[in-house]
Amino acid sequence: MRLPAVIGLDLGTTGARAVLTDVSGATLAVYEAPYELHTPRPGWAEQSPQDWERAAFSAIAAVASRAHLADQVRAIGLTGQMHGLTLLDRAQQPLRNAILWCDLRTGPQRRELERSVGIPTLVRHTGNLPLEGFQAPKLVWVRQHEPELLARTAHVLLPKDFIRLRLCGECLTDVSDASGTGYFDSATRRWSDQMLDMLAIDRAWLPDVRESPETAGKLTPAAAEHLGLPPGIPVAAGAGDQPAGAVAAGIVSEGDAAVTIGSSGVVFAAASAYGASPDGRVQIGAHAIPLRWYLMGVTQAAGLSLRWLRDTFMPGIAYDQLVPEATDSPPGSRGLLWLPYLQGERTPHLDADARGALVGLTTAHRRADIVRAVLEGVAFSLRDAAQTIQSVGASVDRFKLAGGGARSPLWRQIVADVFDAPMRIEPEGRGPAFGAALLGAVASGLIASVDEAVRITAAPCESTTPSAGGVAALEAAYARYRDLYPALAEASQAAAAAQATEITEA
Ligand code: XUL
Repeated sequence: MRLPAVIGLDLGTTGARAVLTDVSGATLAVYEAPYELHTPRPGWAEQSPQDWERAAFSAIAAVASRAHLADQVRAIGLTGQMHGLTLLDRAQQPLRNAILWCDLRTGPQRRELERSVGIPTLVRHTGNLPLEGFQAPKLVWVRQHEPELLARTAHVLLPKDFIRLRLCGECLTDVSDASGTGYFDSATRRWSDQMLDMLAIDRAWLPDVRESPETAGKLTPAAAEHLGLPPGIPVAAGAGDQPAGAVAAGIVSEGDAAVTIGSSGVVFAAASAYGASPDGRVQIGAHAIPLRWYLMGVTQAAGLSLRWLRDTFMPGIAYDQLVPEATDSPPGSRGLLWLPYLQGERTPHLDADARGALVGLTTAHRRADIVRAVLEGVAFSLRDAAQTIQSVGASVDRFKLAGGGARSPLWRQIVADVFDAPMRIEPEGRGPAFGAALLGAVASGLIASVDEAVRITAAPCESTTPSAGGVAALEAAYARYRDLYPALAEASQAAAAAQATEITEA
């Protein structure tokens, strides 16, 4: 007998990924449709909402066609890249390309907001600083640079919610994604009227907000026909990709944290009470479970550090050749240190002008040492993120390692050694789209709650334990790593200023 099934859609940074899963958690089909990332200037990152729409519809249709019967599919759950700004006119058409989470153009707007509103006030009303990637400084940028577009703006949406509009005809969002805008009060789980007033943002532009496992829209007959699905099925409010990935990994209770190594690296901890860091150094938000919150620290260039190293200096080599080679280098990489700040850094420094560095090179170093130093530097940066989260009083004692980096035995061991803690390894194939599908199952009433969904679908996982030799060598290297950012801060700032001048003159 076929069980009822749900579809999860993850509108990612490189493509739209849909999964079809039944209510036992068995994955029946997966499909990914890619789209382009546009970099019109260095540091800018944009995507076309029309590209998103095409890819999302083809991914959903592809997995829907694998269902036994169309009416086996009982709900859809949405997730996606967080923070992005999508501006629509009154006819619900995009006014420009969306400005993404990794776009760094808004440094001046962020600094100006922190100066004029003040960090304590920003943290009091939202729990967060208006980080470069968030919607708030982006809206200020559009007001300053493209005022004619703001005059025509009728709707401001997060990326996944643009897809909801096309699926359901409604502008709605969820609490976890709204938490990453810069004008949502994560404590009360509603838009902050004070922030909207201070930023002169029209409340009518913003979607209404639902808890993640609630229904937020139903599939329109037109979309249903296009997708080969029953009309009227519920679309769950869903969640940002990090909270949805946390649901997939079972990170729902205080004490649990996920360490994810994708392009960026994230330490994500679940919390049972709201508690922002006074200086806004930790990202806080409403979790995808009612009355729970998340604390998050982000390394901007995690997997990206390794990709940059490979693509720049050893193009064409497969990761599964390159990374195992690094086992020839001992823990500590013969004294080499990698500072992974290729795209500035979020946690703990919140410094878009931080720059990458490879420190300690001699003629004795080989490729294996450099690759290992990069893997270790990313792990050090994730430990910084975890310690920053712990410094606001969150108890984190159970870690799960997820993302592409978790597929490498060497990187697993390095992370376990650097954290000096066992790492449970997330099985392959679980990710934000799977978490969104579970939220869909709860929205449709197939499963009673998110906790129940996590319990039913829990999968056995391997564990990597710290090794005594590795822990000692990496503890010493971490102490030297901690000294690097302050030691290089002035040089990094000068480099960033020189690069900004080159960019303006180019
Ligand atoms: C989270 C973040 C990224 C994006 C893209 O704060 O910026 O995880 O959601 O994946």
